[in-house]
Amino acid sequence: MPDLNRQSKRKAFSPASPIGVFDSGVGGLSVLRAIRRELPSENIIFFADQSHVPYGPRPLEEVRQFSFAITRFLLQRGAKAIVVACNAASAAALHALRQEFPETPFIGMEPAVKPAAEHTRSGVVGVLATPATFQGALYASVLERFAKGVIVLQDTCPGLVSQIEAGEMDSLSTRRILEKALQPMLAQGIDTVVLGCTHYPFIIPLVQEITGPDVRVIDPAPAVARQVGRVLEAAGLRQPIGSAPAWQQFFTSGSPQHLDGLLPRLLGETGAAAPAVWRGLKLTA
Ligand code: DGL
Repeated sequence: MPDLNRQSKRKAFSPASPIGVFDSGVGGLSVLRAIRRELPSENIIFFADQSHVPYGPRPLEEVRQFSFAITRFLLQRGAKAIVVACNAASAAALHALRQEFPETPFIGMEPAVKPAAEHTRSGVVGVLATPATFQGALYASVLERFAKGVIVLQDTCPGLVSQIEAGEMDSLSTRRILEKALQPMLAQGIDTVVLGCTHYPFIIPLVQEITGPDVRVIDPAPAVARQVGRVLEAAGLRQPIGSAPAWQQFFTSGSPQHLDGLLPRLLGETGAAAPAVWRGLKLTA
């Protein structure tokens, strides 16, 4: 028998419906920025779980529970597709989200080991990501599929996400964290650095200063934005180019003022974030 409930839910979406994008914090803005460039007609609802950031040191099960509640919050606001703009949340929840919400297209993140392994000449690549990402089955499968014959060095850069959340993109303490991670990798001959956390594209200039210009730094956001376009196209949900001006809505479980303050710097746009509040494991605006 057809599931009428699901069919009627599905009908509520149209190309004009927004894309839901979420992260533990401002890292998701590096993906949002790429989506804005690639798909300028798309409306977007962005959620930053800044009362729980960082996700990286938390148990995968806890991050999975947050991801489910955030997805429900975004679906209730009409999201036609969800971008899990967070490697840690993708590691913890992407597979389970697709099972729980089979009607919703999900686009997630995984460390870009594939292009790194394809292009490295030294055969040694470095991956910067959080503990949750390194622990997840997704990362193990990425290594298994793409890293054959390549040495992959890893570092969790403790404290780096919090530095970026505080707007410290080029302070001395941020530099120290990066030097500690990158210098041993450089000594072992890396020629490629994979940014396996969506917060890290905001510190590419600092990474590049430490590595020098000959090391390639991979930000996966543009590739993810292209994938969002392909997924929407396949689902018949892509907003036609030249539609009415796109809108964006920002929510945070942390301080809206703090997020507003970082938006011009990180996104190059202003915005007025609205608060969202956790009540147990439910999120309300
Ligand atoms: N930006 C996220 C990621 O891509 C999460 C960072 C964190 O909250 O630890 O992994």
